[in-house]
Amino acid sequence: MKKIFVMNGPNLNLLGSREPDVYGQSTLRDIIRMLKGYARERGVKIGAFQSNHEGKLIDRIHSLSRRGYSGLILNPGAFTHYSYALRDAIKASGLPTVEVHLSDIEKREEFRKVSVIRDVCVDQIKGLGPKGYLKAFDLILKRV
Ligand code: DQA
Repeated sequence: MKKIFVMNGPNLNLLGSREPDVYGQSTLRDIIRMLKGYARERGVKIGAFQSNHEGKLIDRIHSLSRRGYSGLILNPGAFTHYSYALRDAIKASGLPTVEVHLSDIEKREEFRKVSVIRDVCVDQIKGLGPKGYLKAFDLILKRV
């Protein structure tokens, strides 16, 4: 069975209560449940992890190939905009990775328009809310 991993970075554990006007009403648990159901119908197993700590995200990325995962759906939260360490980890992993953002980072503050991981990812999905994770899944599935 194919295995794809979904990883969420800082503050995404607060989804549902965090700025619902920007990020919507769904909790992270709701999003992961939806994604797991969608993947199950397509014969794919999803592993999931959220952390507020950069090093923990990086350690987990390092372990993914060894644990049989062949693709990564990643919402790095604010690390998107400045974490070269996360960028290096994605590149080193060699895993096809799709960057996801619930909000449209192009239409917000200037600093959010920069993604330091964009060019080591297969694609960037933004502004689609929770459905963005499903679109990212479809893109990854074509690659694995
Ligand atoms: C986000 C956008 C980031 O700019 C922000 O720091 C987040 C969430 C999104 O999903 O829209 O934490 O990645």
